[in-house]
Amino acid sequence: MAQRGTAAESSIDRKRINELTEAQMARFRELTPTSAERFERATKVMPGGVPSSFQLNDPWPVYIDRGEGALVWDVDGREYVDFHNGFGVMCIGHANPAVGKAVTERHARGTHFAAPTDGSIEVAGELANRFGLPQWRFSNSGTESTMSAVHLARGATERDLIIKIEGSYDGHHDAVMVSCYPDLDELGPRESPTPIPFGSGYPDAVVQLTRPVPFNDAEILEGIFARHAGKIAGLIMEPAMMNINIIPPRDGYLERVRELCSEHGTILIFDEVKTGATISYGGATQRFGVQPDVVCLAKAICGGYPGGAIGMTAELGEVVASDKVHQIGTFNGNPLVMAAAEATLTEVLTPDAYEKLEATNKALLERCQEVIDRHGLPAYTEGLGAKGCVIFSPERMYEYRDYLTKVDGDLSTLAWLYHMNHGIFMTPGVEEEWTLSIAHDQEHIDRYVAAFESFAADVSS
Ligand SMILES: Cc1ncc(COP(=O)(O)O)c(C=O)c1O
Repeated sequence: MAQRGTAAESSIDRKRINELTEAQMARFRELTPTSAERFERATKVMPGGVPSSFQLNDPWPVYIDRGEGALVWDVDGREYVDFHNGFGVMCIGHANPAVGKAVTERHARGTHFAAPTDGSIEVAGELANRFGLPQWRFSNSGTESTMSAVHLARGATERDLIIKIEGSYDGHHDAVMVSCYPDLDELGPRESPTPIPFGSGYPDAVVQLTRPVPFNDAEILEGIFARHAGKIAGLIMEPAMMNINIIPPRDGYLERVRELCSEHGTILIFDEVKTGATISYGGATQRFGVQPDVVCLAKAICGGYPGGAIGMTAELGEVVASDKVHQIGTFNGNPLVMAAAEATLTEVLTPDAYEKLEATNKALLERCQEVIDRHGLPAYTEGLGAKGCVIFSPERMYEYRDYLTKVDGDLSTLAWLYHMNHGIFMTPGVEEEWTLSIAHDQEHIDRYVAAFESFAADVSS
């Protein structure tokens, strides 16, 4: 399992969890023999048998054949309702006809020139409307978006230090591969957490330029600003944490972060790679009503094509336009990706679509909460827009240290196995959440709740 472990055990008996996990794991193996065969072939040509380490899974990944609407089919021909949705990308539903038509038409007129096309102007304009920032550039992934944002903050301020949130994943470039999922004994004091590299390959000198802070605590942030006065280029944060289940901001927290960044001349960067096109028409920026200096986007904005975007103020746009900071890339604004993004943003993920996503999510969250309450599970539900999850903690979480010490990783893993074995395709590991698409409706929600009910009944019996 791609589990970045938590240290907590809930009130559910370990022996019971272990027995059920063994039984469900055996069932998983029985149901996915062709994936096992693919895994054997894949490991000969790809490390771990996967194109990205976030796809690693125990005993093997489920290899997917195709998808349509809210459904996917694996290489064994099993049908699942997709709540994984490509790590939060496919809010438009699989094989969306509007996006398919736009991309096909664009393909017939040529797919790549490395010169600007009308699509990039349209998409930049649409993003400016949604996120309240006037200037936009494009990238090919969330990693590239947050990398450009960090370059921009450092270049514009001529400072070196970056603040990031402890327990947040903001992509895999050096400046942010710090304190993503540190272990309990590595954390250091809460008021001054130790920067811990996420894996190997990052020079210590670079790691030390990134200062982690706990989420939802403006006082600690204030202390860090005071200790490093005049040195902090940028603060990068997910406005609602979405890589350790979902943690929304406390009331007033983002407003205070905004004030502190303005006071200290620090660029406030919202990493909206996950929240961007999923939690409202204008992402977290609109939903929480706090305006950052830079917004990083990727995932859902391009309807399943590999693209990202960086929004910025007019002043920061000047820093890029003058080429003081080089924001570059052969495939930036690729016409196919722009065609997909334009159709996604203007034809599919319209204000009405967000209303539907919100309503479907609310129904699913309420029904899961009802199951939790009826079975007395040590868990609660959390959700925003198209995103939601059951969090296996008896108490609400506010930051990564809560996640590490309160979330029952074994129980989360067991729930994942029940879902997969009951035809619900879910993100592996403990830390993720579900993402709905506009194709999800009552029948799909019923299937999710039935799988969750069977898990809840078995663990509480
Ligand atoms: C919040 C956040 N930022 C950045 C990234 C990196 O995006 P990508 O995988 O497209 O590089 C991710 C990926 O999951 C993410 O969740």
